Amino acid sequence: MPKDKFEIQGLSGQKKLRGEIEVKGSKNAVLPVMASSILFEDSLKLENIPNIEDVFRMSELLEELGIKVENDNSGGITISSKGSLSSDLNEDLSRKMRASIILAGPILARFGKVSFPHPGGCVIGKRPIDLFIEGFSQMGATVEENKKGYIIKSKGKKLKGVNLFFPVQSVTATETFMMAGVLAEGKTILKNVAFEPEIVSLGEFLNSCGADIKGLGTPTLEIKGGNLLKAGGKSYKAIPDRLEAGCFLILGALAAEDLLIKNCNPDHIEVLIDILKKSGVSIDVSKNSIRVKNKKDQKPFVSFNVKTHEYPGFPTDLQAPIGVFLTQSKGQAIVFETIFESRLNYIEDLIRMGADITMFDPHRIMIKGPALLKGRELEGLDIRSGLAFIIAAIIAKGSSVINNIYYIDRGYEKIEDRLQKIGVKIERINN
Ligand code: EPZ
Repeated sequence: MPKDKFEIQGLSGQKKLRGEIEVKGSKNAVLPVMASSILFEDSLKLENIPNIEDVFRMSELLEELGIKVENDNSGGITISSKGSLSSDLNEDLSRKMRASIILAGPILARFGKVSFPHPGGCVIGKRPIDLFIEGFSQMGATVEENKKGYIIKSKGKKLKGVNLFFPVQSVTATETFMMAGVLAEGKTILKNVAFEPEIVSLGEFLNSCGADIKGLGTPTLEIKGGNLLKAGGKSYKAIPDRLEAGCFLILGALAAEDLLIKNCNPDHIEVLIDILKKSGVSIDVSKNSIRVKNKKDQKPFVSFNVKTHEYPGFPTDLQAPIGVFLTQSKGQAIVFETIFESRLNYIEDLIRMGADITMFDPHRIMIKGPALLKGRELEGLDIRSGLAFIIAAIIAKGSSVINNIYYIDRGYEKIEDRLQKIGVKIERINN
C-alpha cells in the first residue's frame, strides 16, 4: 500500500476558505451497481464514477472473475460479463474492501455457486456476515465454511424466492438480497431493509433494465424473480456522494467565509443541514447545491448531541467529521455511535491535538468545546476519520501531517486538488 501523506497548514480557526467545491459520484452507490453487472446479459455503462481506490479494487475483482471493465478515467466505466466467468472471489482483494461482499449475491444467483474469504474485520468494527449466510441458506443454498472462507452452492438450478426478515438493517445485505431476488425462482420479500439513497438508486436502475422491485425507499421490498437483465445501451449515472457533501458542509461551517458546494443533493443530508442550522450555521440550500457563509463577527456555534442512526437519521459515516465540529462549538455534546462498535477511535488523535473529549464506553463520548486544536502528525484509521482529520488539520493552529492516506484515496477522488482550489494549504507527499 502506498505510503503517501498529506501536509496541511492550519488556519488557526480563521474562516478564510472561499469559492466552489464539486461533489463527485457516490462510492456507496457505484460499488453495488458495478456488482449488479453480473445480473446483465449485455454490457453496462456507468457515468459520474469517482476515480477512487475502491472503484479500482471492485474493477479488479470483476476482472478476476473474467469480466471486462473499461474505465475511461474521466468518470465513465463500461462493464461486460459475457463468456465463461469464475465464481471465486479473489482472497486478498476481498480482504482489502468489505464491500466486496456485495458480489456474492449476484454471482450465486447467476452461477449457482460462489466462494469468498472470511471478510477482514476493519478498524470500525468486526463486520459480521451472519445476515448473508442466513439469507443464502433460506434461499436454498448450502453453506460450507472452511479456514479460508465460505463456499456457497444453490441446490437447485436457481435460488428460491423467500421471505427474509432482517433483525438488523444492513445496507449491503439489503443490496445483496435485492439483487439475488432478481434472478431467483418466484417472489422474494425482504422486511426491515435499509433504504439509504444508494439502495433506492440501485433498485430504480435495475427496474429500468427489466427487474421488478417494489417498495424502494420503504422498509419492505418485494422482488419478482425473472431472467438476466438488459441495459440496452442505458447507462447508470451515479448519484452525488452525500458523505462528501456533508464533509464539505462541515468544513465550510468551520473554516469558510463563503463556500458553494456544487453537484450535490441536499435532500440526502437533511438531518445534517437541520442540526447545523440549529447550531447557528448560515446555510442556503438549492436543488443541487448548498452555500455556507460565516460573518466576520460570527458567534460560536452551539453544541448539540448526536446519535447515529440508519437513513434518514444521522449517518455513521459523518460521525467523525461532526465530532471535529463539536470540538469547536460552545458547550458539551454526547456523541452516541449506535451502528459500529469501534468507530470512535479517531478521538485519540483529536485529544492529542488539544480537543476536550471523554470516552464513556465504546459507543459514547462527551465533547466539550470550543477547544483550540494544534497541528500534529495524525494516522488516518478509515475512510471517514481520514477526512475528519483533514478538517481538524485545516482549522488547527500550525501544520499537520496525515499518514496512510490510502484510506482517504479509497473514498475521495483527488481531494487535495479540490481543497487547494478553495484556499486550503494542502500538499500530497509521495513516499
Ligand atoms: C455500508 O456498510 C456502507 N458501505 C458503510 O460505509 C456504512 O458505514 C454502513 O453501510 C452503515 O451505513 C457501503 O455501502 C459499501 P451495514 P455495510 O451492514 O453494509 C451489522 C464507508 O466508509 N451487520 O449496514 O457493511 C453491522 O455490524 C463505509 O463508505 C450484522 O450484524 O454496513 C452493523 O452494526 C464504512 N450482520 C450494522 O449491521 C451482517 O451480516 C449495519 O452495518 C451485516 C451487518
